[in-house]
Amino acid sequence: MTRLWGGRFADGPAEALARLSVSVHFDWRLAPYDLAGSRAHARVLAAAGLLDPDELGRMLAAIDDLDAAVATGTFRPTIEDEDVHTALERGLLERLGALGGKLRAGRSRNDQVATDLRLYLRDHARDLAGRITELADALTEQAARHVDTPAPGMTHVQHAQPVTFGHWLLAHVQPLLRDLDRLRDWDERTSVSPLGAGALAGSGLPLDPGAVSKELGFKTSFANSMDAVSDRDFVAEFLFVTALLGVHLSRLGEEVVLWTSYEFGWVELDDAFATGSSIMPQKKNADIAELARGKAGRLIGGLVNVLTMLKGLPLTYDRDMQEDKEPVFDALDTLTLVLPALAGMISTMTVRVDRLAASAPVGFSLATEVADWLVRKGVPFRDAHEITGQLVALCSVRECELHEVSDTDLTTVSEHLDPSVRDVLTVKSALAARTTPGTTGPGPVADQLASVLDQLKTWHAWAEESVVPH
Ligand code: ARG
Repeated sequence: MTRLWGGRFADGPAEALARLSVSVHFDWRLAPYDLAGSRAHARVLAAAGLLDPDELGRMLAAIDDLDAAVATGTFRPTIEDEDVHTALERGLLERLGALGGKLRAGRSRNDQVATDLRLYLRDHARDLAGRITELADALTEQAARHVDTPAPGMTHVQHAQPVTFGHWLLAHVQPLLRDLDRLRDWDERTSVSPLGAGALAGSGLPLDPGAVSKELGFKTSFANSMDAVSDRDFVAEFLFVTALLGVHLSRLGEEVVLWTSYEFGWVELDDAFATGSSIMPQKKNADIAELARGKAGRLIGGLVNVLTMLKGLPLTYDRDMQEDKEPVFDALDTLTLVLPALAGMISTMTVRVDRLAASAPVGFSLATEVADWLVRKGVPFRDAHEITGQLVALCSVRECELHEVSDTDLTTVSEHLDPSVRDVLTVKSALAARTTPGTTGPGPVADQLASVLDQLKTWHAWAEESVVPH
Protein backbone atom coordinates (compact mmCIF):
# COMPACT_ATOMS: atom_id res chain seq x y z
CA MET A 1 0.00 0.00 0.00
CA THR A 2 1.33 3.43 -1.01
CA ARG A 3 0.88 6.25 1.45
CA LEU A 4 2.38 9.70 1.11
CA TRP A 5 2.56 10.38 4.85
CA GLY A 6 3.36 7.15 6.76
CA GLY A 7 6.62 7.98 8.61
CA ARG A 8 5.46 9.39 11.90
CA PHE A 9 2.49 7.06 12.34
CA ALA A 10 2.72 3.84 14.33
CA ASP A 11 -0.30 2.26 12.67
CA GLY A 12 -2.26 2.53 9.45
CA PRO A 13 -5.44 4.60 9.32
CA ALA A 14 -8.68 3.36 10.82
CA GLU A 15 -11.15 2.01 8.29
CA ALA A 16 -13.57 4.85 9.04
CA LEU A 17 -10.89 7.49 8.42
CA ALA A 18 -9.74 5.87 5.20
CA ARG A 19 -13.30 5.72 3.89
CA LEU A 20 -13.96 9.35 4.68
CA SER A 21 -10.61 10.57 3.44
CA VAL A 22 -10.47 8.83 0.09
CA SER A 23 -11.04 10.98 -2.99
CA VAL A 24 -9.53 8.85 -5.72
CA HIS A 25 -12.95 7.72 -6.97
CA PHE A 26 -13.63 11.27 -8.12
CA ASP A 27 -10.25 12.97 -8.42
CA TRP A 28 -8.92 10.28 -10.77
CA ARG A 29 -10.05 12.50 -13.63
CA LEU A 30 -7.17 14.79 -12.74
CA ALA A 31 -4.59 12.07 -13.53
CA PRO A 32 -3.43 13.32 -16.98
CA TYR A 33 -3.09 16.84 -15.59
CA ASP A 34 -1.18 15.63 -12.54
CA LEU A 35 1.20 13.82 -14.88
CA ALA A 36 1.66 16.96 -17.00
CA GLY A 37 2.60 18.76 -13.77
CA SER A 38 4.99 15.92 -12.92
CA ARG A 39 6.82 16.27 -16.24
CA ALA A 40 7.30 19.98 -15.68
CA HIS A 41 8.41 19.43 -12.09
CA ALA A 42 10.92 16.74 -13.11
CA ARG A 43 12.52 19.14 -15.59
CA VAL A 44 12.77 21.83 -12.94
CA LEU A 45 14.37 19.38 -10.49
CA ALA A 46 16.90 18.44 -13.19
CA ALA A 47 17.63 22.10 -13.94
CA ALA A 48 18.31 22.55 -10.23
CA GLY A 49 20.76 19.63 -10.32
CA LEU A 50 18.51 17.44 -8.19
CA LEU A 51 18.05 14.82 -10.93
CA ASP A 52 20.95 13.94 -13.23
CA PRO A 53 20.29 13.77 -17.00
CA ASP A 54 19.99 10.00 -16.93
CA GLU A 55 17.52 10.13 -14.04
CA LEU A 56 15.51 12.80 -15.82
CA GLY A 57 15.35 10.67 -18.97
CA ARG A 58 14.13 7.63 -17.03
CA MET A 59 11.71 9.75 -15.03
CA LEU A 60 10.13 11.30 -18.13
CA ALA A 61 9.93 7.91 -19.88
CA ALA A 62 8.16 6.45 -16.83
CA ILE A 63 5.74 9.37 -16.67
CA ASP A 64 4.92 8.93 -20.38
CA ASP A 65 4.48 5.20 -19.88
CA LEU A 66 2.21 5.78 -16.90
CA ASP A 67 0.25 8.40 -18.85
CA ALA A 68 -0.36 5.87 -21.63
CA ALA A 69 -1.35 3.21 -19.10
CA VAL A 70 -3.80 5.63 -17.48
CA ALA A 71 -5.28 6.51 -20.87
CA THR A 72 -5.80 2.87 -21.87
CA GLY A 73 -7.02 1.91 -18.42
CA THR A 74 -4.24 -0.62 -17.82
CA PHE A 75 -3.18 1.44 -14.82
CA ARG A 76 -6.06 2.12 -12.46
CA PRO A 77 -6.38 3.40 -8.93
CA THR A 78 -7.13 0.84 -6.24
CA ILE A 79 -9.27 1.35 -3.13
CA GLU A 80 -5.99 1.54 -1.20
CA ASP A 81 -4.97 4.74 -3.00
CA GLU A 82 -6.10 7.78 -1.02
CA ASP A 83 -6.13 10.15 -3.97
CA VAL A 84 -4.93 10.63 -7.52
CA HIS A 85 -1.52 11.81 -6.34
CA THR A 86 -1.04 8.70 -4.23
CA ALA A 87 -2.08 6.39 -7.05
CA LEU A 88 0.27 8.03 -9.52
CA GLU A 89 3.20 7.92 -7.11
CA ARG A 90 2.53 4.19 -6.77
CA GLY A 91 2.60 3.93 -10.57
CA LEU A 92 5.96 5.70 -10.70
CA LEU A 93 7.43 3.57 -7.91
CA GLU A 94 6.31 0.44 -9.75
CA ARG A 95 8.17 1.66 -12.83
CA LEU A 96 11.25 3.29 -11.31
CA GLY A 97 11.81 1.86 -7.85
CA ALA A 98 13.58 4.31 -5.52
CA LEU A 99 14.04 6.92 -8.27
CA GLY A 100 10.25 7.34 -8.33
CA GLY A 101 10.48 8.75 -4.81
CA LYS A 102 12.61 11.69 -5.96
CA LEU A 103 9.83 13.52 -7.77
CA ARG A 104 8.08 14.65 -4.62
CA ALA A 105 10.95 16.97 -3.62
CA GLY A 106 9.79 20.58 -3.30
CA ARG A 107 6.24 19.68 -4.16
CA SER A 108 3.16 19.12 -2.04
CA ARG A 109 -0.28 17.80 -2.81
CA ASN A 110 -1.46 21.27 -1.86
CA ASP A 111 0.16 23.01 -4.81
CA GLN A 112 -0.35 19.92 -6.97
CA VAL A 113 -4.09 19.66 -6.51
CA ALA A 114 -4.61 23.38 -7.08
CA THR A 115 -2.57 23.13 -10.29
CA ASP A 116 -4.34 20.00 -11.49
CA LEU A 117 -7.78 21.49 -11.03
CA ARG A 118 -6.85 24.69 -12.86
CA LEU A 119 -5.48 22.67 -15.75
CA TYR A 120 -8.51 20.38 -15.84
CA LEU A 121 -10.96 23.26 -15.77
CA ARG A 122 -9.12 25.37 -18.35
CA ASP A 123 -9.16 22.38 -20.67
CA HIS A 124 -12.80 21.54 -20.04
CA ALA A 125 -13.91 25.15 -20.24
CA ARG A 126 -13.10 24.89 -23.94
CA ASP A 127 -15.19 21.73 -24.35
CA LEU A 128 -18.00 23.48 -22.55
CA ALA A 129 -17.63 26.55 -24.76
CA GLY A 130 -17.87 24.27 -27.80
CA ARG A 131 -21.15 22.82 -26.57
CA ILE A 132 -22.61 26.20 -25.68
CA THR A 133 -21.66 27.41 -29.15
CA GLU A 134 -23.41 24.43 -30.74
CA LEU A 135 -26.63 25.25 -28.90
CA ALA A 136 -26.23 28.87 -29.99
CA ASP A 137 -25.72 27.60 -33.57
CA ALA A 138 -28.98 25.63 -33.39
CA LEU A 139 -30.94 28.63 -32.11
CA THR A 140 -29.33 30.89 -34.70
CA GLU A 141 -30.14 28.55 -37.59
CA GLN A 142 -33.78 28.48 -36.50
CA ALA A 143 -33.72 32.26 -36.11
CA ALA A 144 -32.41 32.60 -39.67
CA ARG A 145 -35.57 30.85 -40.90
CA HIS A 146 -37.81 33.24 -38.97
CA VAL A 147 -36.32 36.69 -39.47
CA ASP A 148 -39.75 37.99 -40.52
CA THR A 149 -42.08 35.43 -38.94
CA PRO A 150 -44.50 37.39 -36.73
CA ALA A 151 -45.10 36.21 -33.19
CA PRO A 152 -46.98 37.59 -30.20
CA GLY A 153 -44.31 39.15 -28.01
CA MET A 154 -45.15 38.88 -24.35
CA THR A 155 -44.58 40.47 -20.99
CA HIS A 156 -46.08 38.78 -17.91
CA VAL A 157 -46.97 35.92 -20.33
CA GLN A 158 -49.64 38.27 -21.74
CA HIS A 159 -49.74 39.40 -25.35
CA ALA A 160 -47.80 42.66 -25.46
CA GLN A 161 -46.51 43.68 -28.91
CA PRO A 162 -45.80 41.73 -32.07
CA VAL A 163 -42.21 40.61 -32.52
CA THR A 164 -40.45 38.45 -35.06
CA PHE A 165 -39.83 34.90 -33.94
CA GLY A 166 -36.23 35.18 -35.16
CA HIS A 167 -35.71 38.06 -32.72
CA TRP A 168 -37.16 35.93 -29.93
CA LEU A 169 -34.86 33.02 -30.68
CA LEU A 170 -31.85 35.32 -30.85
CA ALA A 171 -32.88 36.66 -27.44
CA HIS A 172 -31.90 33.21 -26.17
CA VAL A 173 -28.58 33.37 -28.02
CA GLN A 174 -27.46 36.65 -26.45
CA PRO A 175 -27.23 35.25 -22.89
CA LEU A 176 -25.23 32.31 -24.25
CA LEU A 177 -22.80 34.75 -25.88
CA ARG A 178 -22.39 36.42 -22.50
CA ASP A 179 -21.81 33.02 -20.87
CA LEU A 180 -19.06 32.36 -23.41
CA ASP A 181 -17.56 35.76 -22.70
CA ARG A 182 -17.61 35.05 -18.98
CA LEU A 183 -15.88 31.75 -19.58
CA ARG A 184 -13.05 33.38 -21.55
CA ASP A 185 -12.75 36.09 -18.93
CA TRP A 186 -12.60 33.44 -16.21
CA ASP A 187 -9.93 31.60 -18.16
CA GLU A 188 -7.68 34.70 -18.20
CA ARG A 189 -7.83 34.93 -14.41
CA THR A 190 -7.37 31.19 -13.96
CA SER A 191 -4.20 31.15 -16.03
CA VAL A 192 -1.92 31.28 -12.96
CA SER A 193 0.23 28.32 -11.93
CA PRO A 194 0.32 27.43 -8.21
CA LEU A 195 3.06 24.81 -8.69
CA GLY A 196 6.15 25.64 -6.63
CA ALA A 197 4.10 27.01 -3.74
CA GLY A 198 4.67 23.67 -2.02
CA ALA A 199 2.56 23.10 1.05
CA LEU A 200 2.25 26.86 1.66
CA ALA A 201 5.69 28.46 1.96
CA GLY A 202 7.36 27.60 -1.33
CA SER A 203 10.52 25.51 -1.36
CA GLY A 204 14.07 26.04 -0.15
CA LEU A 205 15.21 24.01 -3.14
CA PRO A 206 16.13 26.14 -6.15
CA LEU A 207 12.97 25.43 -8.18
CA ASP A 208 11.68 27.56 -11.03
CA PRO A 209 7.93 28.22 -10.80
CA GLY A 210 8.09 30.39 -13.92
CA ALA A 211 9.44 27.55 -16.07
CA VAL A 212 6.77 25.18 -14.72
CA SER A 213 4.06 27.72 -15.39
CA LYS A 214 5.22 28.17 -18.97
CA GLU A 215 5.40 24.46 -19.69
CA LEU A 216 1.88 23.98 -18.35
CA GLY A 217 0.45 26.70 -20.58
CA PHE A 218 -0.23 29.21 -17.80
CA LYS A 219 0.27 32.91 -18.38
CA THR A 220 2.06 33.43 -15.09
CA SER A 221 2.93 31.77 -11.81
CA PHE A 222 1.71 32.57 -8.29
CA ALA A 223 2.52 35.86 -6.60
CA ASN A 224 2.07 34.52 -3.07
CA SER A 225 2.61 30.88 -2.14
CA MET A 226 0.08 31.01 0.71
CA ASP A 227 -2.60 32.41 -1.59
CA ALA A 228 -1.63 29.93 -4.29
CA VAL A 229 -2.69 26.94 -2.19
CA SER A 230 -5.66 28.70 -0.50
CA ASP A 231 -7.27 30.25 -3.54
CA ARG A 232 -10.35 28.57 -4.94
CA ASP A 233 -11.81 31.69 -6.52
CA PHE A 234 -11.41 29.98 -9.87
CA VAL A 235 -13.67 27.16 -8.70
CA ALA A 236 -16.35 29.48 -7.32
CA GLU A 237 -16.23 31.68 -10.40
CA PHE A 238 -16.45 28.72 -12.73
CA LEU A 239 -19.48 27.50 -10.79
CA PHE A 240 -21.09 30.92 -11.06
CA VAL A 241 -20.66 30.77 -14.82
CA THR A 242 -22.23 27.30 -14.96
CA ALA A 243 -25.01 28.25 -12.52
CA LEU A 244 -25.98 31.26 -14.59
CA LEU A 245 -25.75 29.19 -17.76
CA GLY A 246 -28.08 26.73 -16.03
CA VAL A 247 -30.50 29.56 -15.34
CA HIS A 248 -30.40 30.60 -19.00
CA LEU A 249 -31.05 27.05 -20.14
CA SER A 250 -33.94 26.76 -17.69
CA ARG A 251 -35.59 29.85 -19.17
CA LEU A 252 -35.22 28.45 -22.67
CA GLY A 253 -36.53 25.10 -21.42
CA GLU A 254 -39.56 26.73 -19.83
CA GLU A 255 -40.43 28.55 -23.05
CA VAL A 256 -40.20 25.37 -25.11
CA VAL A 257 -42.53 23.70 -22.60
CA LEU A 258 -45.01 26.54 -23.14
CA TRP A 259 -44.56 26.64 -26.92
CA THR A 260 -45.23 22.92 -27.28
CA SER A 261 -48.38 23.00 -25.14
CA TYR A 262 -51.77 22.68 -26.83
CA GLU A 263 -52.66 26.19 -25.68
CA PHE A 264 -49.71 27.76 -27.52
CA GLY A 265 -49.11 25.15 -30.22
CA TRP A 266 -46.25 27.14 -31.75
CA VAL A 267 -43.70 24.39 -31.94
CA GLU A 268 -43.70 20.67 -32.66
CA LEU A 269 -40.79 18.62 -31.42
CA ASP A 270 -39.17 15.98 -33.55
CA ASP A 271 -40.04 12.47 -32.35
CA ALA A 272 -36.37 11.79 -31.64
CA PHE A 273 -36.28 14.66 -29.16
CA ALA A 274 -39.58 14.08 -27.35
CA THR A 275 -40.87 11.40 -24.98
CA GLY A 276 -44.14 9.56 -24.47
CA SER A 277 -46.19 8.43 -21.51
CA SER A 278 -46.40 4.89 -20.17
CA ILE A 279 -50.17 5.16 -19.76
CA MET A 280 -51.44 7.92 -22.08
CA PRO A 281 -50.78 6.78 -25.66
CA GLN A 282 -51.39 10.22 -27.14
CA LYS A 283 -48.71 12.05 -25.14
CA LYS A 284 -45.67 13.76 -26.55
CA ASN A 285 -43.70 15.51 -23.85
CA ALA A 286 -40.86 18.03 -23.91
CA ASP A 287 -38.74 16.18 -21.35
CA ILE A 288 -35.47 17.62 -22.61
CA ALA A 289 -36.75 21.12 -21.98
CA GLU A 290 -37.98 20.12 -18.52
CA LEU A 291 -34.72 18.41 -17.61
CA ALA A 292 -32.83 21.51 -18.74
CA ARG A 293 -35.11 23.53 -16.47
CA GLY A 294 -34.70 21.07 -13.60
CA LYS A 295 -30.93 20.75 -13.79
CA ALA A 296 -30.53 24.43 -12.93
CA GLY A 297 -31.09 23.38 -9.31
CA ARG A 298 -27.95 21.28 -9.09
CA LEU A 299 -25.88 23.85 -10.99
CA ILE A 300 -26.89 26.59 -8.57
CA GLY A 301 -26.42 24.12 -5.70
CA GLY A 302 -22.80 23.51 -6.73
CA LEU A 303 -22.01 27.21 -6.44
CA VAL A 304 -23.67 27.52 -3.04
CA ASN A 305 -21.88 24.35 -1.93
CA VAL A 306 -18.40 25.68 -2.70
CA LEU A 307 -18.99 29.23 -1.44
CA THR A 308 -20.28 27.81 1.84
CA MET A 309 -17.35 25.41 2.11
CA LEU A 310 -14.84 28.26 1.59
CA LYS A 311 -16.51 30.78 3.88
CA GLY A 312 -14.45 31.36 7.02
CA LEU A 313 -11.73 28.86 6.09
CA PRO A 314 -8.41 29.91 7.59
CA LEU A 315 -5.44 30.15 5.23
CA THR A 316 -3.91 28.10 3.79
CA TYR A 317 -4.90 24.60 2.75
CA ASP A 318 -7.59 22.86 4.79
CA ARG A 319 -8.93 19.45 4.03
CA ASP A 320 -12.40 20.95 3.57
CA MET A 321 -11.09 22.05 0.19
CA GLN A 322 -11.18 18.50 -1.11
CA GLU A 323 -14.90 19.25 -1.45
CA ASP A 324 -14.14 21.67 -4.30
CA LYS A 325 -13.98 19.04 -7.02
CA GLU A 326 -17.25 17.12 -7.15
CA PRO A 327 -19.41 20.21 -7.78
CA VAL A 328 -17.37 21.27 -10.82
CA PHE A 329 -17.20 17.73 -12.17
CA ASP A 330 -20.95 17.43 -11.72
CA ALA A 331 -21.56 20.79 -13.39
CA LEU A 332 -19.50 19.74 -16.39
CA ASP A 333 -21.13 16.30 -16.60
CA THR A 334 -24.58 17.84 -16.32
CA LEU A 335 -23.96 20.39 -19.04
CA THR A 336 -22.32 17.78 -21.27
CA LEU A 337 -25.65 15.96 -21.21
CA VAL A 338 -28.01 18.91 -21.36
CA LEU A 339 -26.43 21.10 -24.03
CA PRO A 340 -26.32 18.58 -26.93
CA ALA A 341 -29.86 17.42 -26.12
CA LEU A 342 -31.14 20.99 -26.19
CA ALA A 343 -29.23 21.72 -29.40
CA GLY A 344 -30.75 18.68 -31.09
CA MET A 345 -34.23 19.54 -29.86
CA ILE A 346 -33.99 23.13 -31.11
CA SER A 347 -32.49 22.34 -34.50
CA THR A 348 -35.09 19.66 -35.29
CA MET A 349 -38.22 21.37 -33.98
CA THR A 350 -40.90 22.53 -36.41
CA VAL A 351 -42.11 26.07 -35.95
CA ARG A 352 -45.83 26.53 -36.73
CA VAL A 353 -45.58 29.83 -38.60
CA ASP A 354 -49.34 29.82 -39.26
CA ARG A 355 -50.20 29.67 -35.55
CA LEU A 356 -47.60 32.25 -34.59
CA ALA A 357 -48.79 34.67 -37.27
CA ALA A 358 -52.45 34.20 -36.32
CA SER A 359 -51.63 34.81 -32.68
CA ALA A 360 -49.44 37.89 -33.23
CA PRO A 361 -52.20 40.55 -33.38
CA VAL A 362 -54.44 38.92 -30.76
CA GLY A 363 -55.06 40.71 -27.48
CA PHE A 364 -54.94 44.23 -28.95
CA SER A 365 -51.17 43.88 -29.32
CA LEU A 366 -51.21 46.70 -31.91
CA ALA A 367 -52.62 49.26 -29.46
CA THR A 368 -49.19 50.86 -29.00
CA GLU A 369 -49.11 51.46 -32.77
CA VAL A 370 -52.26 53.61 -32.45
CA ALA A 371 -50.69 55.60 -29.62
CA ASP A 372 -47.48 56.09 -31.65
CA TRP A 373 -49.59 57.14 -34.70
CA LEU A 374 -51.21 59.81 -32.52
CA VAL A 375 -47.81 60.92 -31.23
CA ARG A 376 -46.62 61.37 -34.82
CA LYS A 377 -49.63 63.71 -35.26
CA GLY A 378 -48.42 65.81 -32.32
CA VAL A 379 -50.70 64.39 -29.60
CA PRO A 380 -48.80 64.12 -26.27
CA PHE A 381 -48.17 60.47 -25.46
CA ARG A 382 -50.05 60.78 -22.18
CA ASP A 383 -53.22 61.72 -24.12
CA ALA A 384 -52.49 59.25 -26.90
CA HIS A 385 -52.29 56.47 -24.31
CA GLU A 386 -55.63 57.55 -22.83
CA ILE A 387 -57.36 57.74 -26.24
CA THR A 388 -56.05 54.35 -27.29
CA GLY A 389 -57.20 52.89 -23.99
CA GLN A 390 -60.73 54.13 -24.70
CA LEU A 391 -60.56 52.58 -28.16
CA VAL A 392 -59.56 49.23 -26.64
CA ALA A 393 -62.41 49.50 -24.12
CA LEU A 394 -64.86 50.12 -26.98
CA CYS A 395 -63.53 47.09 -28.87
CA SER A 396 -63.93 44.93 -25.76
CA VAL A 397 -67.59 45.91 -25.51
CA ARG A 398 -68.21 45.49 -29.24
CA GLU A 399 -66.14 42.29 -29.32
CA CYS A 400 -64.19 43.51 -32.33
CA GLU A 401 -60.58 44.20 -33.28
CA LEU A 402 -59.02 47.68 -33.41
CA HIS A 403 -59.09 47.87 -37.21
CA GLU A 404 -62.79 46.89 -37.27
CA VAL A 405 -63.98 50.03 -35.44
CA SER A 406 -66.21 52.09 -37.73
CA ASP A 407 -65.21 55.51 -39.05
CA THR A 408 -67.80 57.27 -36.90
CA ASP A 409 -66.85 55.35 -33.78
CA LEU A 410 -63.23 56.36 -34.37
CA THR A 411 -64.08 60.06 -34.33
CA THR A 412 -66.43 59.58 -31.41
CA VAL A 413 -63.53 58.20 -29.36
CA SER A 414 -61.28 61.12 -30.32
CA GLU A 415 -61.21 63.99 -32.79
CA HIS A 416 -57.56 63.05 -33.43
CA LEU A 417 -58.50 59.64 -34.82
CA ASP A 418 -59.42 59.06 -38.48
CA PRO A 419 -59.65 56.01 -40.79
CA SER A 420 -56.02 56.34 -41.91
CA VAL A 421 -55.00 54.98 -38.50
CA ARG A 422 -55.84 51.55 -39.96
CA ASP A 423 -52.58 51.78 -41.95
CA VAL A 424 -50.62 51.07 -38.77
CA LEU A 425 -52.97 48.35 -37.59
CA THR A 426 -51.25 45.43 -39.25
CA VAL A 427 -48.56 43.25 -37.74
CA LYS A 428 -46.53 43.68 -40.89
CA SER A 429 -46.48 47.47 -40.63
CA ALA A 430 -45.78 47.35 -36.90
CA LEU A 431 -42.75 45.13 -37.49
CA ALA A 432 -41.55 47.09 -40.52
CA ALA A 433 -41.68 50.30 -38.48
CA ARG A 434 -38.99 48.92 -36.17
CA THR A 435 -35.84 49.79 -38.05
CA THR A 436 -33.45 50.99 -35.36
CA PRO A 437 -30.60 48.72 -34.20
CA GLY A 438 -31.50 45.92 -31.82
CA THR A 439 -35.25 46.17 -32.42
CA THR A 440 -37.53 43.43 -33.65
CA GLY A 441 -38.09 44.53 -37.28
CA PRO A 442 -36.87 42.15 -39.99
CA GLY A 443 -34.10 44.61 -40.97
CA PRO A 444 -32.41 44.95 -37.58
CA VAL A 445 -32.96 41.25 -36.90
CA ALA A 446 -31.06 40.39 -40.09
CA ASP A 447 -28.23 42.65 -38.87
CA GLN A 448 -28.29 41.02 -35.45
CA LEU A 449 -28.18 37.62 -37.09
CA ALA A 450 -25.11 38.54 -39.14
CA SER A 451 -23.32 39.82 -36.05
CA VAL A 452 -24.23 36.69 -34.05
CA LEU A 453 -22.95 34.42 -36.84
CA ASP A 454 -19.70 36.36 -36.79
CA GLN A 455 -19.31 36.02 -33.04
CA LEU A 456 -20.08 32.32 -33.14
CA LYS A 457 -17.18 31.80 -35.54
CA THR A 458 -14.85 33.34 -32.96
CA TRP A 459 -16.27 31.11 -30.24
CA HIS A 460 -15.81 27.97 -32.30
CA ALA A 461 -12.17 28.97 -32.76
CA TRP A 462 -11.72 29.64 -29.04
CA ALA A 463 -13.26 26.28 -28.16
CA GLU A 464 -10.80 24.55 -30.48
CA GLU A 465 -7.76 26.20 -28.89
CA SER A 466 -5.71 23.86 -26.80
CA VAL A 467 -3.96 25.46 -23.87
CA VAL A 468 -3.01 22.51 -21.73
CA PRO A 469 -0.19 20.18 -22.80
CA HIS A 470 -1.22 16.53 -22.97
N1 ARG B 1 -7.06 14.97 -1.94
C1 ARG B 1 -6.66 16.27 -1.50
C2 ARG B 1 -7.58 17.36 -2.08
O1 ARG B 1 -8.30 17.05 -2.94
C3 ARG B 1 -5.27 16.54 -1.93
C4 ARG B 1 -4.52 17.47 -1.06
C5 ARG B 1 -4.28 16.83 0.24
N2 ARG B 1 -3.40 17.59 1.01
C6 ARG B 1 -3.26 17.38 2.30
N3 ARG B 1 -2.41 18.09 2.91
N4 ARG B 1 -3.98 16.51 2.92
O2 ARG B 1 -7.62 18.47 -1.66
